[in-house]
Amino acid sequence: MRTRLLNRRAGKGLVLRSTLNRRQFAIGSAAIMSGGLIGGLVGSRLAQGDPLRFDRHLPIPPLIDANGQGNAVKLKVSSGRHAFVRGKPTQAYGYSGPVLGPAIRMRCGDEVQMTVENALGFDTTVHWHGLLVPGDVDGGPHQVIKPGGTWRPRLKIDQAASTAWFHPHLHHDTARQVYMGLTGLIIVDDGSDARLGLPHTYGIDDVPIIIQDRSFDSDGSLLYDREPDPQTIQYGSRGSTIIVNGVVSPFAKVPSGLVRLRILNAANAQNFDLRFSDRREFRVIASDAGFLSTPVPMRQLRISPAERFEILVDFADRKPVMLETGPDTLMGIFGAVSPDGSADFVPIMRFEPTKMAATVKDFPARLVEPVAADSEKFVRRRQFVLDSGICGGKRPTEMGILPGLCINGKTHDLNRIDVETKLGTLEVWEIVSLGMAHPFHAHGASFRVLSLAGAPPPAHLAGWKDVVLVEDRAELLVAFSRPATREHPFMYHCHILEHEDAGMMGQYVCA
Ligand code: C2O
Ligand code: CU
Ligand code: CU
Repeated sequence: MRTRLLNRRAGKGLVLRSTLNRRQFAIGSAAIMSGGLIGGLVGSRLAQGDPLRFDRHLPIPPLIDANGQGNAVKLKVSSGRHAFVRGKPTQAYGYSGPVLGPAIRMRCGDEVQMTVENALGFDTTVHWHGLLVPGDVDGGPHQVIKPGGTWRPRLKIDQAASTAWFHPHLHHDTARQVYMGLTGLIIVDDGSDARLGLPHTYGIDDVPIIIQDRSFDSDGSLLYDREPDPQTIQYGSRGSTIIVNGVVSPFAKVPSGLVRLRILNAANAQNFDLRFSDRREFRVIASDAGFLSTPVPMRQLRISPAERFEILVDFADRKPVMLETGPDTLMGIFGAVSPDGSADFVPIMRFEPTKMAATVKDFPARLVEPVAADSEKFVRRRQFVLDSGICGGKRPTEMGILPGLCINGKTHDLNRIDVETKLGTLEVWEIVSLGMAHPFHAHGASFRVLSLAGAPPPAHLAGWKDVVLVEDRAELLVAFSRPATREHPFMYHCHILEHEDAGMMGQYVCA
C-alpha cells in the first residue's frame, strides 16, 4: 500500500523527500481504504517555493469604491495570463483582470447596480458570498450567465460592516473556476471604521490577504483536472504551494504600528493554521459577518475555506516577520504542509515594517456589540448530516461516473427544494460531519455558533458568521432575513468546493 501510494505521488511529479510518520500514514491509508479508493494524491502536501526568497511585492487587488462611481460597477469575467510563479505566466481566470478580481467597497444603505459580463466562453455565475441579498440576485447555480451574456443584479446593501467576497457557483464547475483564479473581495462599509479608530486605508494599513493553495506544473501552469479523481473529490483539492493574493512567496511593506489584515481563505479545501514566525500576539476584530464585541487576542488562528477574519497586528517594533501556516491537522497525511512531511509550519509571506508610522497605535478596547439573537426564540430545529462517503448519488461525465456526496443522504438536485423557512425567524440547525471536518455555509442568512462538539464556541467564533468548520457537530442559530423563491432558492453546502460540486449541497426557500 505504502509503495503504491508513494509511487503514485512520484508519478504525479511531486518531489518525495518524505518520511511519513506512522500515524500520518495510518490515517492516510485508512482514509483511502474507507473510501475503497486508490489513486494519485495530487497535491496532498504543501511545500513552499524553493529557495524561499520572498522578494516579490504582495499584489493588492484594485479597489473599486462603488459609491464614488455612482453605485454602478462593471465586472468582466475572462481568461488571461498571470504569473503565479515568478517569470512563468500561464492561463488564469479573473474578474476585470487576469486573475482574482477587484475589492469592491459597498456602502451600507446604497443600492449597487452590478453589470457582469461573461467573456469566458462557457457558463459561469457570480455569487456574493456574505452579502445579505434576496435569492434572485444571490448568484447561485440558478443564475447562469451564458458565454457572451451579461447579468445585471441590483444589490441593496443593508448589513453590518464586514468582509465578504464573490466567486463562481456553477453547479459541477465551481471548484475548477475558483481554482483558475475567480475570487474577489467585497468590503461592506457602514462608517464604523473611523468611529472605532480602526486602520482603514486600503492597501496601506488595511490589507487584503487572500490565501489559497495550488499545484503548479514545471512551466508554472495550474494543475487541475476537469474530471477530478475520486480522492480529490473525497478530500478536496490540496495544492503543494501556497499563494497570497495570487502569487507565491510575496512580501508586503507595512507602516510601523497597527495594521489590519482582512484574511480570506479562498482555498478549495485546505484549512490554514496561521501564526507569525515570532509567535507575536494579534487581535481578531471581525469574523465573516461583522465585528466581534471586543478584540480577541490570539497567537494562532485556524481559517477554513470561505471563512474571513480581520485581525490587527502591531508592527511597531519594525522587525520583519513571516506569516506561516501549519498543517491541516484535520486531514492527517492529506493536510501535511512541510516538505519532509513533518508537522512543521511553513512561511507563506513576509511583512516588512517601514519607517512610516502607522496612523493607529493602540488596540481599541471595544468594538461593536453584535446584534442580539435570543437562542430561546427559534421556531424549528433541523439536522443536516454532511457525509463525504459516497452516498449513492451519481454524476455521469465524459469520463465515466463520478461519485455523489450527500447531505442527509441526498445528493444535490437543482430541482428539489430541501427546506422551507420563514422570513424573519430563527432556527437551530444542527450540523453533523461524517468522514472528515466540513466547512458549512448557508446563503442568505447569518448565524451564531451555539456549540461546537457540545462546547460553547471560542470567543473569535462567537460573532455573526456564515461559514463554520464542523469537525464533529455544531449547533447554529440561523437568522433568516432575506427572501428566496422556488425559482431562485438559497443554497447551503459544504465549502470544500469539490464536495459542493459533487453534491454536498441543499436548497432552501424563505418567505
Ligand atoms: Cu462561497 Cu455557496 O458559497
Ligand atoms: Cu455563499
Ligand atoms: Cu465537505
